[in-house]
Amino acid sequence: MSAADPFADLPGSVEIVEVGPRDGLQNEPGTVDLDTRLGLIERLIAAGLRRIEIGAFVSPARVPQMAGSGELARRLGRREGVRFSALVPNLKGLEAALAAGVEEIAVFGAASETFSQRNIACSIAESLERFRPVVTTARARGLRVRGYVSCIAGCPYEGEVPVARVAEVAGALFAMGCEEISLGDTIGTGTPRRIAEIVRACAASVPVTRLALHLHDTYGQGLANVLAGLLSGVRVFDASIAGLGGCPYAPGASGNLATEDLLYMLRGMGIATGVDLDALLAAGRFVTDALGRPPASRVARARGG
Ligand code: HMG
Ligand code: MG
Repeated sequence: MSAADPFADLPGSVEIVEVGPRDGLQNEPGTVDLDTRLGLIERLIAAGLRRIEIGAFVSPARVPQMAGSGELARRLGRREGVRFSALVPNLKGLEAALAAGVEEIAVFGAASETFSQRNIACSIAESLERFRPVVTTARARGLRVRGYVSCIAGCPYEGEVPVARVAEVAGALFAMGCEEISLGDTIGTGTPRRIAEIVRACAASVPVTRLALHLHDTYGQGLANVLAGLLSGVRVFDASIAGLGGCPYAPGASGNLATEDLLYMLRGMGIATGVDLDALLAAGRFVTDALGRPPASRVARARGG
């Protein structure tokens, strides 16, 4: 008897959400000038990416790297078929996002109390109350709204995070009107069985087609976890050009899964994304040249940088 094809039910296409201009650059030791941020985003669009997180409307005292996100959004304007998104932690951030013409925002909560306090200076329960009017107002103004849950597998301060807590926060964000819930393995400690368990638990209150995985590659588990997500029904994956990234409030959170590596795997498996690998590699070279270091993506290294 021949073995069954474990990939028989995989989809023909998935969506990549490029988070490099936000998650990637927010963690740089120095700030990157607006022209470079803009140049990177233009190259990501040229590579075929259709969902790009361009910045964050957060306190510039806390994350100076994201200052100027309003001007960046205004200079980019709107592009046919492309969705630009930005992080928004509160109503002040939403006002700035609306003024800049951003069409999608993302509120960002966590499944760990200590991380929530360190990252956004409030408890999980307070964050949900803070997000509610943001989500309602944004939806009423015609914006799309995404909700992040950080620390789905582990927290830099508390260690392992219970799966039930992740599902609770994901369900609460979805119930208040977030259309997509991005599950963040902030410090990359998750392994495939755990990621599948988390997706299954969240799918009890959020349709699996509305879940995204946001994987940091700190422990080299990124692609294996994408596969676990694919086999669990997830169809949206966040990734960062050249493997840039981390979180200033998560010590040890190294780069996100590199977009080039994600694309290479998906392409090899016959799963379409609309993204061109050579153009993506060129975008990666552009930003790593500007930062003065080689790309962290395996594909870029294999192709000579
Ligand atoms: P707070 O201290 O509670 O806020 O911070 P506040 O309301 O008391 O205000 C304090 C100061 O911040 C005031 O300024 C406000 O005007 C200003 P001051 O009077 O002192 O000059 N402020 C703002 N300025 C600009 N935009 C705003 C804004 N709000 C207040 N929206 C707050 C609360 C959330 C604002 C703060 O803690 C903050 O900005 N944190 C940033 C957190 C952040 O960006 N973290 C990184 C992104 S999350 C991440 O990377 C994880 C993710 O990738 C998923 C994963 O990997 O798991 C998404
Ligand atoms: Mg992240």
